[in-house]
Amino acid sequence: MDKRPIGIFDSGLGGLSAVKTFLKHLPQEDIIYFGDTQRVPYGSRSEKTIEAFAEQDIAFLEQFNCKLIIAACGTVSSVAIKSPFKMKEPFIGVVKPSAAAAVTATKNNKIGIMATAASISSGSYTKEIQKLKPEAEVFGVSCPVLVTLVENNWIDEDDYISREIIKRYVQPLLADGVDTIILGCTHFPHLAPLIQSVVGNDITLIDSGYEAVMEAKNILQEMDIANSNDHIATAKYYVSDKMQNFSTIANYLLGTDISGEVEYKDITE
Ligand code: DGL
Repeated sequence: MDKRPIGIFDSGLGGLSAVKTFLKHLPQEDIIYFGDTQRVPYGSRSEKTIEAFAEQDIAFLEQFNCKLIIAACGTVSSVAIKSPFKMKEPFIGVVKPSAAAAVTATKNNKIGIMATAASISSGSYTKEIQKLKPEAEVFGVSCPVLVTLVENNWIDEDDYISREIIKRYVQPLLADGVDTIILGCTHFPHLAPLIQSVVGNDITLIDSGYEAVMEAKNILQEMDIANSNDHIATAKYYVSDKMQNFSTIANYLLGTDISGEVEYKDITE
């Protein structure tokens, strides 16, 4: 039994898709979440900037003596595949577990990726998928506007404008005949019901936040560092800009009131 917390970070609200899975599947683990709401979005920035931001995020989480750190961010995970961060804790990104899930799910070996511009241009998902299944065809589309939809909570299934934007992004993937789509930016699982209703039920959506947490579950077991099952876990949230906006949307996304657990953190200090 290891009582140390698990650190999770993202540019903003996206990583809460991983937190949601944690609360459901690993309710005995303490969580420290950092959302870099001052500097969101990461996905339109250069590799060098993303790397520098991620290093600061990790350094902040390391102060809590975390037993595991998860980049619940496809953009940071993509950068980490090319140049892994130097750190003492085990590190989990979302790309590898999502690629593995997609390879298992696809029947026609045509996989779509919806992610940020930085993730798509890094080729990270394609590389990881083709390592596991060289014959797989991978089609990527960068969907920066979907990050903004989530950050503004325009995620309801009956939101006409969000639906039209999603249609525009998924059209080329549908034309390519994919049967599986990785929601490769952790913001996008918050839009999953809407995306699923646009693409239809024959297409399998892979939730990158969920897959990273399942990988964490395996690592906790393998390394024998899980917390005891009777532990009542706590979750603490830090953000680098106004807390109110984050809390309001986070309460909605997580379906529980976390406002009292949100604190401001100046990440540049
Ligand atoms: N949620 C992030 C990702 O998974 C980043 C979105 C952004 O900041 O552009 O890529």
